[in-house]
Amino acid sequence: MNEKIALISGANKGIGLEVARQLGKQGMIVLVGARSLQKAEQAVEELQAELIQAYPIKLDVTDPEHIRSAANRIEKEYGKLDVLVNNAGIYVDHEGTDVDVIRRGFETNFFGAYALTTSLLHLLKLSPAGRIVNQSSILGSIGTILTNEMYGRASAPAYTTSKAALNAWTAQLSIQLRDTPIKVNACHPGWVKTEMGGSDAVMEIHEGAETAVYLATLSGDGPTGGMFHKQEALPW
Ligand SMILES: NC(=O)c1ccc[n+]([C@@H]2O[C@H](COP(=O)([O-])OP(=O)(O)OC[C@H]3O[C@@H](n4cnc5c(N)ncnc54)[C@H](OP(=O)(O)O)[C@@H]3O)[C@@H](O)[C@H]2O)c1
Repeated sequence: MNEKIALISGANKGIGLEVARQLGKQGMIVLVGARSLQKAEQAVEELQAELIQAYPIKLDVTDPEHIRSAANRIEKEYGKLDVLVNNAGIYVDHEGTDVDVIRRGFETNFFGAYALTTSLLHLLKLSPAGRIVNQSSILGSIGTILTNEMYGRASAPAYTTSKAALNAWTAQLSIQLRDTPIKVNACHPGWVKTEMGGSDAVMEIHEGAETAVYLATLSGDGPTGGMFHKQEALPW
């Protein structure tokens, strides 16, 4: 199969939907993951109206059964996966700093991405140019927290620590896969006008999707094991 297959989690709205749109416009078949099948189908309808080859997948990244069934379906229908964008994410810090809140943040932002990726790795290895993009945040960059007062003082332990865990694992996975064609990078989309980013955010959604799209379409001599915003490397 010559066409590239991309799976994007949390693709029913926000940055994920726009990443699906931009990858679809480049000719990829996009699998729109969403925890509600109905929301996935609505997003797919929108994309198909723009002549994008899009298909819905029911995918709550915290549900092992959804992950198993997505992996089986991709294997059966396509026999490989070229691009995985771990975009699904939550910000729960307005609910407090209790350990339960921190755990919830980790469930989606780290364990979800970890479980989905490890369940799909055998299919990414069957691609001639597998790309894994972990949608992270500058708030998970320890180097930035230590050097930028604004990010250092932001109190969002669930979000910060779950994205920092995602970053650490991104780096290690890139090392483990460096003898394969697979590239693994983390992405900071910027502060984007979505439900999570809010209306005061400075970037429009189409611009917020660009870093993930860049990392999902890297050429063979592109970077791996980095964290990027708009093609610029950020500190871990
Ligand atoms: N917006 C920003 O300024 C900003 C900045 C830095 C990083 N990010 C990161 O960018 C990514 C996308 O954020 P966004 O701004 O587009 O947020 P958003 O509009 O709130 O969208 C989040 C997406 O993730 C989905 N999701 C949440 N939990 C999920 C789960 N357990 N399984 C599957 N999907 C799940 C949501 O689905 P539902 O519709 O079902 O809730 C939604 O589709 C996130 O990882 C976020 O941390 C965003």
